[in-house]
Amino acid sequence: MNILLLGSGGREHALSWKIKQSQKTEKLYIAPGNAGTAQIGINVAIAATDFPAIKQFVLQKDIHYVIVGSEEPLVKGIYDFFKNDAELTNIPVIGPSQQGAQLEGSKDFAKAFMMRHKIPTAKYLSVTKENIAQGIDFLNSLKAPYVLKADGLAAGKGVLIINDREEAIIELGKMLNGSFGKASETVVIEEFLSGIECSVFVATDGKSYKILPEAKDYKRIGEGDTGLNTGGMGAVSPVPFADETFMRKVEERIVIPTVNGLKAENVDYKGFIFIGLMNVNGSPFVIEYNCRMGDPETEVVMLRIKSDLVDIIEGIAMCKLNEKTLVFEERSAATVMLVSSGYPGNYAKGKVIMGLEQISGSIIFHAGTVEKDGNTVTGGGRVVAVSSYGNNLEEALNQSYKNAEIINFDGKYYRTDIGFDLK
Ligand code: AMP
Ligand code: GLY
Repeated sequence: MNILLLGSGGREHALSWKIKQSQKTEKLYIAPGNAGTAQIGINVAIAATDFPAIKQFVLQKDIHYVIVGSEEPLVKGIYDFFKNDAELTNIPVIGPSQQGAQLEGSKDFAKAFMMRHKIPTAKYLSVTKENIAQGIDFLNSLKAPYVLKADGLAAGKGVLIINDREEAIIELGKMLNGSFGKASETVVIEEFLSGIECSVFVATDGKSYKILPEAKDYKRIGEGDTGLNTGGMGAVSPVPFADETFMRKVEERIVIPTVNGLKAENVDYKGFIFIGLMNVNGSPFVIEYNCRMGDPETEVVMLRIKSDLVDIIEGIAMCKLNEKTLVFEERSAATVMLVSSGYPGNYAKGKVIMGLEQISGSIIFHAGTVEKDGNTVTGGGRVVAVSSYGNNLEEALNQSYKNAEIINFDGKYYRTDIGFDLK
């Protein structure tokens, strides 16, 4: 089987690592990929959103499956582009239709979907310039802190959590006036949910589903979950509080109604659903849906799947997921992200990364790296993820931290407390 994977981050390197282990994989291409994926498959200099160039490549290289790593091509409708093109219609795209991707692309759509299917989530109101007065009334009815979300994609930065009501009202006005561009023409105001978060991943062929290993990611730049939000500073799997009882509630109250809801509304969805959850005193509430796997969660979730991922992918594509078995790895997994100092603000690029060849006992997934003049150099804020197995989370984390010290580049920074809230 020839596979084309779209994306260029740590998630795509981790997916490539797992895809490559399958006996079913013949050629693996990654567009555009990074210096890490180049060691596993063949990088192709095509942007993940350049649909005409992807078409040409897929036909030329006899690609059997297109796996979409990141949300942008999905929200832009790559699934529909393939489905509606006579030459591409028989080549499965793993990822939802444009309508299904609205679960991530529009918070208003996601909230309304959850209301229709009685899926537990925070109380909310969607506000535009037309009903701003109603929005202020709703803010007045809530207790601090106040949660304001830009409806559309805002590169992970569209959520504001504000303690002061007056400030929240001012911020609401700014958002509606375009502080996040078109993404905040509609703003979702939400009740604040207090609890501990985790990420649950579901593979679905539109009829049946499989729940993948859950994970917890650490989004803030600073120790103890402080400072600015990032693309993710580390992750662990399993999540101790996501025990059998909790996961049964997740399945019954969230996963089943989500998959059935999509089916009932005739939304084409063959791919991964990422459910961001808040555990509020033992009850799961949906914070957000994403239409793809998580990053950096994939850098631990792939370690915890024993089964052949390409076999699962085949089940998704052929609507035969119910015939497949998904076996989890019993060991724990952890990942620690090494980032460039200054990130998520300004940071330098092009710094030579040293020590990669000295690593043993961990798996290095490249996030933002480039090959230059025979060196691997930094090319992004998040540079490499150091993933490890362990008999428990502590062992997995210790192993990742050991290797995090060995890898070096100018301005290397990482959080030393991944998993701190699970002990
Ligand atoms: P989102 O982009 O929707 O995942 O939101 C970003 C982060 O904001 C989440 O990971 C949560 O930590 C936080 N958040 C979002 N919505 C809520 C909420 N209703 N209550 C508490 N925290 C929230
Ligand atoms: N880890 C959060 C995300 O992938 O959006």
